[in-house]
Amino acid sequence: MTSRRRGLFLTLEGIEGSGKSLQIRRIEAYLKDKGMHCLATREPGGTEFGRALRRVLLHKGSASREPLSELLLYLADRYQHLKEVILPALEQGITVLSDRYHDATRAYQGGARGIAETAIETLALSLDLLEPDGTILLDLEPELGLARARDRNQLQGSSLEEGRFEAEELSFHKAVREAYLRLAGRWPERIRIVQACGTPDEVFSRITPHLEEWITTVLGKGL
Ligand code: TMP
Repeated sequence: MTSRRRGLFLTLEGIEGSGKSLQIRRIEAYLKDKGMHCLATREPGGTEFGRALRRVLLHKGSASREPLSELLLYLADRYQHLKEVILPALEQGITVLSDRYHDATRAYQGGARGIAETAIETLALSLDLLEPDGTILLDLEPELGLARARDRNQLQGSSLEEGRFEAEELSFHKAVREAYLRLAGRWPERIRIVQACGTPDEVFSRITPHLEEWITTVLGKGL
């Protein structure tokens, strides 16, 4: 994996409707308030190239695709994002907050679509993907997450444009959640499970102790 740089690299993960987008804005505001330079970004779609890929990846259309074809598109998005956005920001000492990253591939393409872990990790290694310094896993019952995601899509009228994964069966989302929890068991120092139920304020109050810990341990600087 790529060697350390000056900024902190944090990611948010979770099933659909776990509240990542809302919490990432809260985290960004919190860190900026503490005087840190932050960049909030996301996958897929953190670059212009990635936004074109996002339309293809998430459109709930009929174009069929092999799980491995889909995997390669997510990795293409990630590699471009890493080179164009994440690494340059980290090198400038900016904290990068990414709404999803490689754990999403491990959980969705690996855990739920059934692609072998060795295939995913071999590709990650050959792309020299950087592991985050810290990852918040917003954990929620899939039934609740899906209901939230569908309400949001209806409100935004985005069910066709970005509804590909929400349309999957409940069993798919359960497999994603289980895969995420296994990842957290494997990297307990890096991946912190945060209960995503309750109000946004309650969820955010569960996140801040982890942020403070990473800032102290990784950047060697207290808040
Ligand atoms: P989101 O931006 O609303 O979280 O949606 C992104 C969707 O893309 C979500 O359903 C998960 C999926 N996804 C993967 O399957 N693999 C990946 O590597 C990434 C980054 C996202």
